[in-house]
Amino acid sequence: MPHGLFITGTDTEVGKTLVACALIHACRRAGMRVVAMKPVAAGCYQTQDGWKNEDVEALRAAADVDAPLDEINPYRFVDAIAPHIAASRTKVAIDLPVIRERFDLLSRRADAVIVEGAGGFLVPLNEREDFGDLARALALPVVLTVGMRLGCINHALLTQEAILARGLPLVGWVANRIDPAMSVFDENLETLKQRLKAPLLGVVPRMDRPDASAVRLDLPNGQMPSTSFM
Ligand SMILES: Nc1ncnc2c1ncn2[C@@H]1O[C@H](COP(=O)(O)OP(=O)(O)O)[C@@H](O)[C@H]1O
Ligand SMILES: [Mg+2]
Repeated sequence: MPHGLFITGTDTEVGKTLVACALIHACRRAGMRVVAMKPVAAGCYQTQDGWKNEDVEALRAAADVDAPLDEINPYRFVDAIAPHIAASRTKVAIDLPVIRERFDLLSRRADAVIVEGAGGFLVPLNEREDFGDLARALALPVVLTVGMRLGCINHALLTQEAILARGLPLVGWVANRIDPAMSVFDENLETLKQRLKAPLLGVVPRMDRPDASAVRLDLPNGQMPSTSFM
């Protein structure tokens, strides 16, 4: 049975990649062999060594198991725009069975697969499906990255509702201090603790030089959950 987590966030640029990398390090410290997956990456460029994307590079660098790019990142687009629009402009169909197949290959390579979404939980993939469907197709429990800034309580609670409405377990959340000047931070954190129905896995401070290996996060339930809940 594959083990893994789907990392979503309250928005784009809230620290999903940082949190995903920190969770990879937490899994590795717990003795697991870990591989990362970024099923859809928008904002990619060609180099002599092939396609590059910042998230894919960061996730790969954090993981201790590598794999072919087509498994780690099956769909890549040059423009940093909404994935379904990038896909339709380039006449690519984002196909969940393809993503599932690559995930299955990855899960045979490692003890855990850490999967990062793109944008927020309901970002569309195509005319019918979104990242919530992707998390469901992979049968993964969800970790929510909350970018701590004014407005985040609403975004966090909306995301929780969407995750639960899809029948997926929210197994933890992370408070990421993207706005060091946020007013009444402690009260916001307390409100989220009371209203999010999952454990707080850690608070990530604002870092001058972001370094996922320096971030200490708990793993959900003190260990990786099984994905066999469905
Ligand atoms: N706690 C933090 N302290 C400092 N910079 C951060 C922090 N969290 C995120 N960042 C920076 O903010 C940007 C967005 O973070 P990222 O993890 O890429 O977000 P997402 O994956 O949600 O788009 C990156 O440049 C990242 O280094
Ligand atoms: Mg990211």
